[in-house]
Amino acid sequence: MSAPNNSYDPVEVTALHPDEVARMRDEALAAIAAAASLDELKEVRLAHAGDRSPLALANREIGALPPAAKADAGKRVGGARREVGEAVKARQAALEEERDARVLVEEAVDVTLPWDRAPRGARHPLTTIAERMTDIFVGMGFEVAEGPEVEAEWFNFDALNFLPDHPARTMQDTFFVEAPSGGESGLVLRTHTSPVQVRALLDRDLPVYVVAPGRTFRTDELDATHSPVFHQLEGLVVDEGITLAHLRGAITAFVQGMFGSGLRTRFRPSYFPFTEPSAEVDMECFVCRGASVGRPEAPCRTCSSEGWIEIGGCGVVNPRVLTAAGVDTDRYSGWAFGLGVERTLMFARGVKDMRDMVEGDVRFASAFEREI
Ligand code: DAH
Repeated sequence: MSAPNNSYDPVEVTALHPDEVARMRDEALAAIAAAASLDELKEVRLAHAGDRSPLALANREIGALPPAAKADAGKRVGGARREVGEAVKARQAALEEERDARVLVEEAVDVTLPWDRAPRGARHPLTTIAERMTDIFVGMGFEVAEGPEVEAEWFNFDALNFLPDHPARTMQDTFFVEAPSGGESGLVLRTHTSPVQVRALLDRDLPVYVVAPGRTFRTDELDATHSPVFHQLEGLVVDEGITLAHLRGAITAFVQGMFGSGLRTRFRPSYFPFTEPSAEVDMECFVCRGASVGRPEAPCRTCSSEGWIEIGGCGVVNPRVLTAAGVDTDRYSGWAFGLGVERTLMFARGVKDMRDMVEGDVRFASAFEREI
């Protein structure tokens, strides 16, 4: 058996030599001071204060020393490790403070910068007013019906009792898309929303109470009062025991809902192939209520001092139309109307020029968005 190694000199264990411990400590402190970021400091901490750092490895050597030397070496290494640990903590705190200060500067929001770099669009007033017009009829119990903008000539004309030589069927009024061929109906851009009447009757069970808002097309030049693309709101009622009084009541309720209570309506005799009898619908001028008529000193710009404003056409559905749609005309009758959406917008909101409605300037739409 050998004697305990009492003569073991810690100074002989290189890692525990005071100079070596001081060197490891100074190297660690220098690396900590040089760490320029939290990431760098993390690496420095692992290298100089981690389990495999030179000082940690030196610490392990202490166990092998003779008891008399342990305390001295332990104090030396422990002191160095504490110093390094504190230096890491202090550097960590300093770097965190630096980072927080930098984030405050870099992520600062300048609330005085302009906010509208992506300006909002606006719904077009024609869309909004068509919805309002539709809503008034929906409130009376009508449903909304639809039809295509590219329409079969049969729906646009024939089923509505336009005879083959009717002037509306000429090139002067209608955009033709496809000529008739092999007994098939030709295609047109629908010249009115009335073909939806026939589609609604073919699609639905009776009774039918529908309105059909939609885009329509005619070969007009664009000017202050005409546009080749415009909009209508069609209405159709087919039921038992329907009379013109119901039509008058529905139109009057619409006018009062749209333009103001108490306004009167009037029907003037007219002609449409799909209604018999037919009428033009006028409403009392909602601005002067007739007070400007015959008074040149107090003219009304809204109705040109006529006292009445024309808003559309209407009539009792021609039995030929009902027959084309397969409706039993002994049992059912009905009425229909067609209102101009552009005209309604012009009068309701004082838009003077039709071109403003089609040019698509968002400032025009935005101006009305808040009103309608
Ligand atoms: N379709 C007609 C036009 O575009 C308007 C019209 C008149 C529609 C009388 C109707 C109606 O439903 O009954 O001029």
